[in-house]
Amino acid sequence: MSNVVIIGTQWGDEGKGKIVDWLSEKAHLVVRFQGGHNAGHTLVVDKKIFKLSLLPSGIVRKNTIVLIGNGVVIDPFHLKKEIDELKKQNIKISPKNLIISDSAFLILPIHQVIDQLRENKKNTEKIGTTGRGIGPSYEDKVGRRGIRICDVFDKDNLFLKLSELYGFHNIWLRAMGEKNINPKEISEKLWDLGQILKPYVQPSWLLIDKYKKNSSNILFEGAQGTFLDVDHGTYPFVTSSNTIASQAGIGAGLGPTDIDYTLGITKAYTTRVGSGPFPTEDKGDNGISLGKKGNEFGTVTGRQRRCGWFDSVLVKQAVSLSSINGIALTKLDVLDGFKEIKICTGYSLDGNIINYLPSSEKQQKNLIPIYETIKGWEGSIVGIKSINELPKSAIIYIRKIEELVGCPVILVSTSPERSDTIYIKDPFSSN
Ligand code: GDP
Ligand code: IMO
Ligand code: MG
Repeated sequence: MSNVVIIGTQWGDEGKGKIVDWLSEKAHLVVRFQGGHNAGHTLVVDKKIFKLSLLPSGIVRKNTIVLIGNGVVIDPFHLKKEIDELKKQNIKISPKNLIISDSAFLILPIHQVIDQLRENKKNTEKIGTTGRGIGPSYEDKVGRRGIRICDVFDKDNLFLKLSELYGFHNIWLRAMGEKNINPKEISEKLWDLGQILKPYVQPSWLLIDKYKKNSSNILFEGAQGTFLDVDHGTYPFVTSSNTIASQAGIGAGLGPTDIDYTLGITKAYTTRVGSGPFPTEDKGDNGISLGKKGNEFGTVTGRQRRCGWFDSVLVKQAVSLSSINGIALTKLDVLDGFKEIKICTGYSLDGNIINYLPSSEKQQKNLIPIYETIKGWEGSIVGIKSINELPKSAIIYIRKIEELVGCPVILVSTSPERSDTIYIKDPFSSN
């Protein structure tokens, strides 16, 4: 048995969903442990496309159980919609294969109103959030006034808790010239929806404990990426949760010694959606070309993703922050046809060379990337399933990445399709 954590090593959208789905074949349980429906994962299985935001990517596998852990913030109305949409695609979802932690916090409509109002009224640079209420919901959790799934099943108490929460936020809404929001309607809707969701709800740590004792393989699916982490990312241009590997324990209910392997998902170049520092961003022809070839449009908001060359400084930092054991390199095929490929190996800052991302927002914005250039390859690598079939330059590129970030590449993805994956080492049998 083995427990594997999967996390993004850049700014999200590294292709985590595809890799989680691919590895799910070996997992008995797949667990989401942070974030909410700000995440967007696209899976392609035999040309059929599945889009997931809140449900763990293992859900499309017949024999895999999935769990939404306590660290996730859940918009229950969105969850219901996502379940219904997947059922229309013939995916079977029932309390037998989907479990929701009873202590996960809710995203309420008022959180979305606040998220969007704040962004619209911001005088300084906008964060560029997904507008889905992620930040305000996590704030209420830490502020000790949040509503958890288990609160929804006690009708009177639910209304009292909602009244306190809405009372708190109505002060700010009035100050911003907005109308008060009355919690009565939402209280009733939540109660009704709660009755539908109740059979899915359990204490998540207890279920994980059972799987641990049964020597099962558990796959922990991170959302977002390392540099969107609220502590370690490009603050304040981050999401409101911890996205690094240690969060798997907190957001699901297990200790660090139960994690056997951490797999970092790394795109063969870099993208970012929303505002914030991005040292290797390329607004010229190469960036446009990466965006077009990589179809870099957000799954959740449809926004165009910003693109640039691979930044080894960032990924090396991610390897350290999450003690990453191996890397799954995705979207290597997007580099097909580039005559030259650049890799950022360090930064210049105020005349000095540095090889880490500084914490100061101002310094992050002033970094000038230092590049090494390698030769590209001719022809297409789309669909290649064996490392030996890759062109020599592609292998040189992979080896260069391994050397710079100090971690082996154990999987390579060569198209969105599940089966188009080069397998080098199995993270579940690493010991
Ligand atoms: P996630 O948020 O990390 O799960 O990533 P997304 O699903 O938001 O974005 C990754 C996109 O790239 C999706 O549209 C995938 O279908 C696609 N994708 C994943 N792996 C590959 C790959 O190796 N090659 C190409 N061309 N596309 C890929
Ligand atoms: P996946 O799981 C890429 C970004 C938003 C914004 C910032 C804060 O698909 O990789 P939020 O709504 O979380 O308060 O927005 O974080 N962001 C993502 N960017 N992929 C994601 O998830 C993201 N989830 C949030 O664009 O810049
Ligand atoms: Mg995504």
